[in-house]
Amino acid sequence: MLNRKDVLGLYDLSAEEIDEILTVAASMKKLLRQNIKKLPHLQGKSVTTLFYENSTRTRCSFELAAKYMGAHVVNIAAESSSVKKGETLVDTGKTLDAMKNDVIIIRHPMGGAPRLLAKTVKAHVVNAGDGMNEHPSQALLDMLTMRENFPSLEGLEVAILGDIKHSRVAKSNLFGLTKMGACVRMYAPKTLIPKDIDKMGAKVCSSREEAVEGADVVMGLRIQLERQHGGLFPSLGEYAKFYGVNEDVMKYAKPGALVMHPGPVNRGVELTSALIDGNTSRIEEQVLSGIAVRMAILFLLTKEAI
Ligand code: CP
Repeated sequence: MLNRKDVLGLYDLSAEEIDEILTVAASMKKLLRQNIKKLPHLQGKSVTTLFYENSTRTRCSFELAAKYMGAHVVNIAAESSSVKKGETLVDTGKTLDAMKNDVIIIRHPMGGAPRLLAKTVKAHVVNAGDGMNEHPSQALLDMLTMRENFPSLEGLEVAILGDIKHSRVAKSNLFGLTKMGACVRMYAPKTLIPKDIDKMGAKVCSSREEAVEGADVVMGLRIQLERQHGGLFPSLGEYAKFYGVNEDVMKYAKPGALVMHPGPVNRGVELTSALIDGNTSRIEEQVLSGIAVRMAILFLLTKEAI
């Protein structure tokens, strides 16, 4: 059983814990496919989403996951909260604790903010993306989507291309996939590859073709213009031409290799529109996996030991 107070990153989770979340999430996804959206697992619990950065998928799917399982849900956007009046993160957390809140789901531009919050509140804390550090629920939903399309994650060849340096998704996928026995290759302009990513288990490739050669899954990552300070590549058009994934690049992958992207996608930059909307794309499937994985995380964290 997932026997921890918080889910802050996949660096912290064991392969057994990841497997348990994915197994429960697969059951949740079966129910969602049958349009079953009224479950009792979180009845009587309160869940707050506390987002200091923009989000469509993550915030919305955590909210739906909690509501489908019967929780009371409150959404706080930093823009409209007392954070604007100077309240600290820790004081905001203590306020939510005093309201008998059971789970806080936090997205924050600073890496480590969810860990700081988790140390100071009684509520369970789930990291919904912290700066350039981790985005555990995204990587778990990516792994669930892969696991449904292949017999096992063990031995899977996954190519990740895009803005790896600024990507919390890349790091969480690297930690999670390698723990589950997959091989992760990465490719980006040198300015977008973090130093020492190879020491964390990634195979850094020197061309798109090398990264994609024989891959089972090709994942594009968003160019995070909001985290860049210019000069990392000449233009979006040139990025697409020299570093993006297109139909010619996909010819190097295994036949039928899956195309994935955490979203939001810059169409025609990281991936061509034909790939995004093609038969091998699993981008919409990832969104459904997202609700299932978030249901599993919320359920496993709040489940009382028998
Ligand atoms: N993939 C992801 O985190 O998307 P959002 O920023 O829309 O939540």
